[in-house]
Amino acid sequence: MRDKYMLERLVIREETPADHYAAELAAKRAFWNLHRPGCDEHYLIHLLRDDPAYIPALSRVAELDGSIVGGIWYSEARVEGEDQITPVLTFGPLCVDPSVQKKGAGSALLAHTMSLARQAGHKAIIIYGEPDYYPRFGFRPCEVYGITTPQGRNFPAFMGAELRPGALAGVRGKFYETETFEKLPPEAVDEYDRRFPQMPKLRLPGQWNT
Ligand SMILES: CC(C)(COP(=O)(O)OP(=O)(O)OC[C@H]1O[C@@H](n2cnc3c(N)ncnc32)[C@H](O)[C@@H]1OP(=O)(O)O)[C@@H](O)C(=O)NCCC(=O)NCCS
Repeated sequence: MRDKYMLERLVIREETPADHYAAELAAKRAFWNLHRPGCDEHYLIHLLRDDPAYIPALSRVAELDGSIVGGIWYSEARVEGEDQITPVLTFGPLCVDPSVQKKGAGSALLAHTMSLARQAGHKAIIIYGEPDYYPRFGFRPCEVYGITTPQGRNFPAFMGAELRPGALAGVRGKFYETETFEKLPPEAVDEYDRRFPQMPKLRLPGQWNT
């Protein structure tokens, strides 16, 4: 439920180097043991910032009473069709610290940055995300657009949102994001994770079967 009192105090702004640790910690806390034992999203953010595909102009952190409580990180992606390549956006992660989840911060980060992306003239955003969360922001399964994963697959978590009506009309093909999303070897993640407060890795019901 939206927490009007909290949202009035929430500042959504560009990330500065001084925010890096707190933003990554919020990501760690949000994703830890969510999809698998532990998580790699804090390391992903760390790598993304140095990726040429990263888009700081669209990425934002959420600050509450002087503390970073969440963020969203955008990067360039593309849909490769038979005879054309269409640039699109992706984001990931989007996270809100568990201490302030479900009060509207995630929605605020998403609505704010989708508006920035629209104003900047971007066509569409394609993501892998929670299929129950994103439809309220206009995301639909990529299947309806004729867009598949690089492996030619479709599933509910693979979704796209047009930033202008019809922006994905006629755009068919395979979705590719920057390789950084795939370059997260567990040993490197564990090594990077040492700089954060240690939390137990647990196998919990509802995690992906990986
Ligand atoms: C998902 C996340 C970013 C949402 O941010 P938030 O600030 O907690 O959510 P909001 O307050 O903006 O939205 C709340 C609404 O979304 C729903 N919601 C929140 N997380 C959800 C989820 N994972 N799946 C489905 N619905 C979700 C809430 O039930 C609530 O619904 P309501 O408005 O009908 O009551 C945040 O909960 C989070 O960081 N979760 C862990 C990491 C994660 O899953 N990130 C997204 C990966 S794709």
